[in-house]
Amino acid sequence: MTWTLTSGVIHAFWVLCTRNPLADEDWAGYAALTRPGGHATRVARRGAAQPVRAMADTPTLEKAKSGEMVDSLGYKLMRPGVKVAAKETLLTPRFYTTDFDEVDEIFNLKKNPNLPMEELDAMLEEFRKDYNQKHFVRNEGFSEAADAIQGDLRKIFIEFLERSCTAEFSGFLLYKELGRRLKDSNPCVAEIFTLLARDEARHAGFINKALSDFNLALDLGFLTKNRTYTFFKPKFIIYATYLSEKIGYWRYITMYRHLQRNPDNQLYPMFEYFENWCQDENRHGDFLTAVLKARPELLNGLEARLWSRFFCLSVYITMYLNDHARHYFYEALGLNTTQFDRHVILETNNATERVFPEVPDIEAPGFWDRMDRMVGYNTKLVEIDNNDAPEWLKKVQKAPYIERILAECLQLFFMPTKRTGSLDIEGAKNYVY
Ligand SMILES: [Fe+2]
Ligand SMILES: [Fe+2]
Repeated sequence: MTWTLTSGVIHAFWVLCTRNPLADEDWAGYAALTRPGGHATRVARRGAAQPVRAMADTPTLEKAKSGEMVDSLGYKLMRPGVKVAAKETLLTPRFYTTDFDEVDEIFNLKKNPNLPMEELDAMLEEFRKDYNQKHFVRNEGFSEAADAIQGDLRKIFIEFLERSCTAEFSGFLLYKELGRRLKDSNPCVAEIFTLLARDEARHAGFINKALSDFNLALDLGFLTKNRTYTFFKPKFIIYATYLSEKIGYWRYITMYRHLQRNPDNQLYPMFEYFENWCQDENRHGDFLTAVLKARPELLNGLEARLWSRFFCLSVYITMYLNDHARHYFYEALGLNTTQFDRHVILETNNATERVFPEVPDIEAPGFWDRMDRMVGYNTKLVEIDNNDAPEWLKKVQKAPYIERILAECLQLFFMPTKRTGSLDIEGAKNYVY
């Protein structure tokens, strides 16, 4: 167990620290913004833009020297209007697979007669109601708003949409497979997973349609067959998906409320759909809460506490570094990236402490200092990745920053935590050690 924990932590910290979160091909847009005179072409209000439609509708298709088809922004195309997916890095949204036999052991009704089926049956009824069945109907403003987003901001938007679409589609694939595999052993849970997949497919499809406004849709069928699938043990899938659903909820609702208060920053109508959309994510998170509670071994004992702490930190650090590396996107929406992220992490942590046996104490002195220092080190890594030095020299240049990030991650892991929601020690809230 110790080795599993240690290697898992080291691997994940390595994942977090050694990869440039920005794929090389995505960097151009950001780099341009940091250059003197570089700027994001931005239209203050949706619909206020003057027609640039002809330009956006007829992207320049060129053959690169390698014979690849590229559009006017430099994106590689599989065919006209269909983008080659961004290069996979360890910080890009991934597709997951798991040990489905072990999942069956967890949910099999014959082997687990004590599963709280009454609660799960009630949840199934809720999911069947399909509250957002008619929500994802596009209005007329999408294409016009997409055409109005030009220049470097266009690339930033496309990257945001592609990452979001991939993440939603990843959820769809995993939930769909779980629904399929559990059909015989637990029809109720199987149907819930299938309905979760329905929601995620809807979200992914909606975003992919948005990408087609930018003439760069993804071929999701091709991705399904060709993208690498990362294996996670079922219990890790449960911790990680719970957190991603809850953090997804807080991200969407925070953006939505901000844009409601600041409509001039609403550059693209998709954000208007976030209020109902995020309720899907909240319901998904609630279902995973029920799953966690149905399996006490995931919420009790030292191992569960360490994994809880580890997954919270992994998710928070990943988001904090990723978002700060893309702060131009959040600024374009009028958000302060640091405030936005801290708010989302705070709310997610508050929600998670009602479920997980332990969460990081994000208000402990020094917590955010360490997070901010990591952002600084990560910025250096990005700069090195994008200089013209040979690869071996880049590795040498990056080594001290990687070492600092690893050290900060480890120190965060051993910082004070809050003992919360644990079933094994009643009333142990706010215990600090
Ligand atoms: Fe979703
Ligand atoms: Fe979801």
